[in-house]
Amino acid sequence: MTEISPTGSPPPGNPPELPINLLEYQPLAARRLSKMAYDYYASGATDELTLRDNRAAFARRKIRFRVLAGVGQRSSRGEVLGAPFEFPVLIAPMAFQGLADADAELATARAAGAAGTVMILSTLSNVALEEVVAAGPAPVWFQLYVYKDREATAALVRRAEAAGCQALVLTVDAPLLGRRERDVRNRFHLPDGLQAKNLHAAGYGQLAPVASDSGLAAYVGSLLDPNLSWEDLTWLRSITKLPVLVKGVVRGDDAERALSAGAAGIVVSNHGGRQLDTSVATLDCLEEVASAVAGQVPVLLDGGVRRGTDVLKALALGAQAVLLGRPILWGLGSRGQAGVEHVLELLKAEFDQALALSGCSSLAEVTRDLIA
Ligand code: GLV
Repeated sequence: MTEISPTGSPPPGNPPELPINLLEYQPLAARRLSKMAYDYYASGATDELTLRDNRAAFARRKIRFRVLAGVGQRSSRGEVLGAPFEFPVLIAPMAFQGLADADAELATARAAGAAGTVMILSTLSNVALEEVVAAGPAPVWFQLYVYKDREATAALVRRAEAAGCQALVLTVDAPLLGRRERDVRNRFHLPDGLQAKNLHAAGYGQLAPVASDSGLAAYVGSLLDPNLSWEDLTWLRSITKLPVLVKGVVRGDDAERALSAGAAGIVVSNHGGRQLDTSVATLDCLEEVASAVAGQVPVLLDGGVRRGTDVLKALALGAQAVLLGRPILWGLGSRGQAGVEHVLELLKAEFDQALALSGCSSLAEVTRDLIA
């Protein structure tokens, strides 16, 4: 038995306990990462109000649990666009995972495989997409930024398809980069040895420091296409056989336009509060989007998911699954692949408990009436 000191903390010299929930991973990572890396991952745009409101929106919604539902046998398995998952949590696309761990996106992909879920790989990864897909066995979806250089963009799409990525996830909420003041202060850039690997061949792999701004804001401002429009979704579909999900939708009318342009799925997202500050929390606009989509394609949600009950609420309000972002980076930054696996295990166990305690045995039973 662990001896507890009169102050309640374990005596010095004991190995540190592992976190028991996702929230506890963040301070652990904060101690391990450089300030520039931690701030980059943690920050939201300007006052970070949306960053906080994404979380607060989950706290605002209350669960009307069912009782005496016989929940001894439960399954949280499902699938989205042909990709099976052990529980309805996919890994959100997050740039530059080499800032968190030397194995970077490879470690995250392997952890996704171990957990039985999908990894969405950022265009801006530090490991080439072919290597991440080969890390297997997780299905990999490729998040796409559209560059002004359309040939470079088309080359990325061809590579993703050839490597075996199973879907494209087009980010539409970033015609330019949100102003993340911590990154401006830190003059965010990629340290020597790290590159946006997928763009190396096109000559866009470097992300150097710039005077008085975030290097990423300068990169996005000079290279990505701020003129992206609905016609470009049609263009993208014309150059690929892969299903294209549209990520960054918070309105029903935009979801309808995405469907008309052939979107295979919608991701309700405000980019983790990193783009337009004071934009609506994702959970608050999920129902509007889901009702516009009316079951025609899967609806996913990201932003603020930290607890099993958050996953349950998103499903009840119309999502087929959620994407998990920052906690993956906190796991990766503190304990590498093992940390990501543990983060996913913790959330899976919490979700299973949320299912049981709300009277559900399967995802099909997570319906709208569960939310007050
Ligand atoms: C990259 O997509 C970022 O939001 O930093």
